[in-house]
Order: sequence, then structure tokens, then C-alpha cells
Amino acid sequence: MSTRISDAIVKDHRELEQYYKEVVNSTDLDHQERYGNQFTWELARHSVAEELIVYPAFEKHLGEKGHKMAEEDRTAHHQVKELLKEFQNMKPKDPNYVPKLKSLWAVLYEHIQDEEKNDLPAFEAALEKTTGTSESLAKNFGRTKAFVPSRSHPSAGENPPFESVMGLLTAPIDHIGDIFRKFPDKTISPNPSTK
Ligand SMILES: [Fe+2]
Ligand SMILES: [Fe+2]
Repeated sequence: MSTRISDAIVKDHRELEQYYKEVVNSTDLDHQERYGNQFTWELARHSVAEELIVYPAFEKHLGEKGHKMAEEDRTAHHQVKELLKEFQNMKPKDPNYVPKLKSLWAVLYEHIQDEEKNDLPAFEAALEKTTGTSESLAKNFGRTKAFVPSRSHPSAGENPPFESVMGLLTAPIDHIGDIFRKFPDKTISPNPSTK
């Protein structure tokens, strides 16, 4: 069975949770730095890909209700991106490194719960009317993650097309920067073509 869009999103959420735990449950600075970078990389790409592919589809397939869902989600994303922008520039030796990530996670976790419990079930129910739509959205979502920025740029906004296109211009710079950042071992190295 091919992957539905909600499966692709939930998979990302579980990965984010795993990276978060690797940082907060460790006292090894090198381990924290690698997983902190991995967390930033995954969250930045996940957020922009949802804004480009998923939220416009909420509006398309769920009308007014979808618009309301998308607007609430964009607001939550903006809040998370502001916190991520601060976190991504911190080093684990900073005493605020873990507290900052914990305060980010509190906001993000509430948003993840809302997506999984409310938005995605309603969305999949609406998509059932058109065979294959959910699966093709999942493919687009995966491809989109390969070329979007991998760092947080809250000033680029959350509404496509214009703001996110502006945001996309930062992607090559982020990707070059990633070459010089430390990540976990190569099984989950940030190679978007494997995602
Ligand atoms: Fe989201
Ligand atoms: Fe999400």
C-alpha cells in the first residue's frame, strides 16, 4: 500500500520526537549538537513542506473549515519558527540550550497533536472521495522537502506563493551550511534524496 499524506506527516513527527529526546536525555555535548542539528534540519523542512503542499490542500479540499485549520496551523508554525531560529544558533554548552529546546517542544507538541487528532483525520476523510490524491500529495511532500530551506527563516512567512518563494531562496545557503555542521551517523545523515 502506498503512503498517504497523513502517514508521511506522522512519520516526520515521530522522527522529530526521537531527535528531541536524544538531545534532552543526553549530557554529551557532541551527541546533543549532532541531534540538535538533525532536529533543526528536519523541523525546518517539515514546516515549509507542510506550508507549500499540505495547508493549501486543506483549503482546497475542506473549504472554509480547511481555511480555518490552515490559518491556525500557520500561526503555530510562525511561533515555532521564531523559537527554532533562536535554538539553531545556540551551542549545547549554553545553559539555555536544553531549556530553549524544551520550550520550543511544548509549543510544537501541542501543534503536532492538533494536526494528528483533528486536521489529518478530517483531511483524509475529504480526500477519500478522490482516489490517489492522498498518495500523490505524500509524493509531492517528500520531493518538496528535498529543496526547501533546512534552517528556520520566520521572516519569510507562512503563506505561499510569494513569502515561501522568498524563503526558498535561502535553501542553497542553508544546504551549504549543513556541510559544515555536525550530524548523527550516516544512517540518518541529512541527504534529502533518501527521504
Ligand atoms: Fe505543522
Ligand atoms: Fe506537522
